[in-house]
Amino acid sequence: MQAVILVGGEGTRLRPLTYTIPKPLIPLMNRPFLSFQFELCRRHGITDIILSTSYMASIFQEAFGDGSSLGVKLTYVTEESPLDTCGAVKNVEEHIRGPFMVFNGDVLTDLDLSAMLAFHRQKGSVTTISLTPVEDPSAYGLVPLDDEGRVLEFLEKPGPDDEIVTNLINAGTYVIEPELLDRVPAAQRYSFERQFFPGLLAEGLPVYGFPSDAYWLDIGTPAKYLQAHHDILDRLLPFDFSGEEVFPGVWAEEDTVIEEGALVSGPCCLGRGCHVSSGAVIRGHSVVGNDCCIAPEAVVEGAVLLDGVRVGEGSEVHGSVLGRRVRLGRKVEVRDLCVLGEGVAVGDHNQLRMGLRIWPEREIAPDTLHF
Ligand code: GDD
Ligand code: MG
Repeated sequence: MQAVILVGGEGTRLRPLTYTIPKPLIPLMNRPFLSFQFELCRRHGITDIILSTSYMASIFQEAFGDGSSLGVKLTYVTEESPLDTCGAVKNVEEHIRGPFMVFNGDVLTDLDLSAMLAFHRQKGSVTTISLTPVEDPSAYGLVPLDDEGRVLEFLEKPGPDDEIVTNLINAGTYVIEPELLDRVPAAQRYSFERQFFPGLLAEGLPVYGFPSDAYWLDIGTPAKYLQAHHDILDRLLPFDFSGEEVFPGVWAEEDTVIEEGALVSGPCCLGRGCHVSSGAVIRGHSVVGNDCCIAPEAVVEGAVLLDGVRVGEGSEVHGSVLGRRVRLGRKVEVRDLCVLGEGVAVGDHNQLRMGLRIWPEREIAPDTLHF
């Protein structure tokens, strides 16, 4: 079985992080997000993986090479211009050798892929769509089923006038019979959600939904991205943490120093080469990247810091994301879902709140922002 992972989107809802790192490569628990999808595939014996790239394409190959260090064999196929979800798969057709799986490249899940494949074969399905229940389906593809599990309709991102007929949504993993690619026009934009699936249904072909209550999260917004860290730290998914457990619930990688007098409580993870000064506080559900420095009296809580971040003396970061090389001066406060892009420098005595997003490399002068 082969897998095609769609990784070409621009990740606009995760800007400014995605200005400098494509969404599927943004670190989750200090590992590129995609490595979680590779691990899931590998667990189910799928090691032949095709990455369909477009936005920031070259960075993927730099990150993973041929995939051998991660136990998978990677093939990269790049679109000259974005071909949309299904056009992207048509574009890798020459590498496809039989029934295959497709994954949206921003979904964190422990879906039972083997059970989904068995279901696909048992039903004689030509396309099987994994489904998950969500509270508010309106931001997703709605997939109502009949009693046998056959898909009745595919309604992508319903508008205010559309009826919400189910809470089951497209979970972004498909099994597809290869001959169906003959119906997809080559080298032009074509969407699974708005064209391919509705087309199969209009012809009455057997398309099945595979509902699952496995863990499922699209990491594509700042709130969901933080949520993914929280859930992994709470062990809702079977992924191991990197590093060693240096205190109960506190994991740190090599060359990280937590000075005596620093207060670090779990669950949390710190990368390599960090320095946590005496008097600093790191509270649960935080993940700190490699080479970060947390100064005395600084507080980090429920936050994600990417590599090379510096949190100055007496500064606080709560429930927010700091991109690579962000520097906070003294007595800076960052709260409530703020996202700071790579290289942002915040001068002393600023307060950032209410989901503020700061574009990469910007500098905020001391004492500029207050609430
Ligand atoms: N190669 C390539 N080319 N990949 C693309 C392109 C493209 O033109 N456009 C999007 N992608 C990739 C993105 O990188 C992402 O991994 C995946 O396709 C889905 O795109 P998103 O932009 O994340 O879509 P969404 O989250 O709004 O909606 C999709 O996922 C939902 C579940 O998370 C749809 O499939 C919905 O039906 C579904 O419910
Ligand atoms: Mg998405």
